[in-house]
Amino acid sequence: MKSRRATVELSRLLRDSGGTVVSGGVVSRALSISRQAVWKAVRDLEEEGFVVTSVPQKGYILRELPGYDLAPSLIGSMISSDCPWGGEIHVFGTVPSTQEAAKRIGRQSEIDGLVVIAEEQTKGRGRRERIWISPRGAGLYFSVFFRPRMLPGRLQLVNLAAGLAVREAILTVCGTTVSLKWPNDLLFEGRKICGILSEASSDPERIRDCCTGIGINISLSKEDLAGAGLENAASLGSGTEPVHRGILCAAVIEKFYHLIEGLSADGGKTLLSRYREECSTIGKNVTVLTEEERFAGRAAGIGENGELLVENREGTRSFCAADVVHATPD
Ligand code: BTN
Repeated sequence: MKSRRATVELSRLLRDSGGTVVSGGVVSRALSISRQAVWKAVRDLEEEGFVVTSVPQKGYILRELPGYDLAPSLIGSMISSDCPWGGEIHVFGTVPSTQEAAKRIGRQSEIDGLVVIAEEQTKGRGRRERIWISPRGAGLYFSVFFRPRMLPGRLQLVNLAAGLAVREAILTVCGTTVSLKWPNDLLFEGRKICGILSEASSDPERIRDCCTGIGINISLSKEDLAGAGLENAASLGSGTEPVHRGILCAAVIEKFYHLIEGLSADGGKTLLSRYREECSTIGKNVTVLTEEERFAGRAAGIGENGELLVENREGTRSFCAADVVHATPD
């Protein structure tokens, strides 16, 4: 299933009309498309599960929204119109990884902020080549493909922005406060509920494109997690009302877009100051694990490119990519 500009805008228009009839002419003018294309967009919405009645000589009335929480045009219509990301959303049943699917589709089009979501991933990937377990329907697994105006050395800022966006979206949509561990793990009661992976294709001067994948555990059982050796992971849905994945996804996309936009406006000042306020790692005693070493000390701050600054008696070290273990619980 896939949304496109016309289905998203039509869905917004019909929702905004609050159950009253919207004429084909109004839709055609608002979306700058032919009557025939309006009719096609209505059919496509119906295929996604929207219930739309056509009233002869009058127009269209939206009767019901789709019951399926990942209906792509529903998600698109929940993103406010000042955010261009999410203009095209692809939803798959099963893919190896949404990262590969988003890069493949994104590189064949001009679209910025293309989104790929899957119900299930058979080869979900985490940082440092770990597996991201992604059983059917138990999580929100998606990737956003975009073209940031940014130097390659600044990619970590994208990760920080994504972490902040997810943290805020979970708070707004689910009312749950989760903590943000550097660079972008989100923890609920000290256990990981979300992981983020950004992969960029760059030349020496600029990032050509970036694909940020976000995996949020929604209803993975303790058994699912323990079976994969993830005793330190948890699911967001265990402590809240049932989570509407589409609403959560729309909120993440919108917040993520605004943070990335802000990066080019002020070079990252706002992002870094918000991140420094919200990152629970800062001030904690930590152990940093890289491919090469372990380094224990106190997390003293975040550098201008998103790196973690850790100090101990030997001095202050800066880490761009690493795993961090907090000595005291969140
Ligand atoms: C991590 O914490 O190690 C990062 C996990 C990232 C998982 C997401 S799920 C959607 C996207 N597709 C993938 O294969 N990985 C990311």
